[in-house]
Amino acid sequence: MAAIRARWITSVILLSVFCHTGLSSYWWFLGTSSVYQSTVDLKTYNFKEKCQQLNYLIQKQKDLCGISHNILAAVSKGAAMGIDECKYQFQTRRWNCTTFNETSVFGGVLNINSREKSYIYAISSGGVEHEITKACAKGDINECGCDDSVRSLPTKDKWEWGGCSQDIRYGEKFSKEFTDSKENSRARDGMMNLHNNEAGRRSIRSTMKIVCKCHGVSGSCSIKVCWRKMSDFRRIGSMLKQRFDGATLVDLNKRRTRLRPKTKGQKQPTKKDLVYLEESPDFCEYDPTIGSLGTRHRECNRTSYGIDGCRLMCCGRGYHTMVEQVTEDCDCKFFWCCEVRCRKCTQMVDKNYCN
Ligand SMILES: *[C@@H]1O[C@H](CO)[C@@H](O)[C@H](O)[C@H]1NC(C)=O
Ligand SMILES: *[C@@H]1O[C@H](CO)[C@@H](O)[C@H](O)[C@H]1NC(C)=O
Repeated sequence: MAAIRARWITSVILLSVFCHTGLSSYWWFLGTSSVYQSTVDLKTYNFKEKCQQLNYLIQKQKDLCGISHNILAAVSKGAAMGIDECKYQFQTRRWNCTTFNETSVFGGVLNINSREKSYIYAISSGGVEHEITKACAKGDINECGCDDSVRSLPTKDKWEWGGCSQDIRYGEKFSKEFTDSKENSRARDGMMNLHNNEAGRRSIRSTMKIVCKCHGVSGSCSIKVCWRKMSDFRRIGSMLKQRFDGATLVDLNKRRTRLRPKTKGQKQPTKKDLVYLEESPDFCEYDPTIGSLGTRHRECNRTSYGIDGCRLMCCGRGYHTMVEQVTEDCDCKFFWCCEVRCRKCTQMVDKNYCN
């Protein structure tokens, strides 16, 4: 009797956990390492079914996941790449793109329609486009491939089109359908999220480049073959970080049809710019409801006047200095051919931490 009862109670608890996560579920959960593992062993015969079981996706996303057996792995990688890039770009800021083991991944920071939220949306929508496009070029997805239409573009006989030009059109469309699907295009915050998702995708389009390879006798480059390629995701992350710094505070216009700069006279943001509706908290103190861990014990730079400097990072609470032992490579020498040998040097360095 007791055992049955215990089982009943566990299932009720499980059920309520399920329902709870269902409410605040986000596809970013796919980017966390434990979930990524599980996407790798999707099989051609069961992926459609498995996609329908991912309760942190909404119905439209489950259906998109079911298009092809390799889609989920690409979306997962895209989400993970977005999360990693966010952490890299924000490592010396008070909010350093903290993530949590819950389905919302970014936690309370999403409760405020701030610049931070705008970056999260843009980088992850870009991440999905980037990875889907790579999967297309590798031939992992039947619905897309390389862009052969470039071959008719003029090259002034200086070089020839060759190789696989990455085709961002499918990835762009997929990312739009997948990441935009949750948003209400008539709500204020929905409009903000849609705008920032689009900004993320535009950053990929605007940084497409042409790369070439030379052929010919002893590097004469008599034949030059070129193809189109996306920029590294690091470049996308840095570009969006600049847009974060220059993001525009917006609000609905009088007719409630679109977003306008809140400050009179400021120019209308372009589709590449990030927009936000609310100012950010200062992230100085611990407050999980806004996704802030506070800056206590964060390392800071004693000589910098920027946001990584102790004055700003520690929010005026001051800092303490500790002497720590650091071991690094030094006196590196190049030996023909091809080896670099270094010595290990240990030195004592001052490190500063916020009070
Ligand atoms: C989050 O989950 C990962 C992998 O499952 C685990 O290694 C890590 O310790 C967890 N972190 C927290 C704070 O629970
Ligand atoms: C981010 O900040 C938190 C606390 O503010 C700290 O515990 C964590 O180590 C930081 N992460 C990185 C990558 O610096």
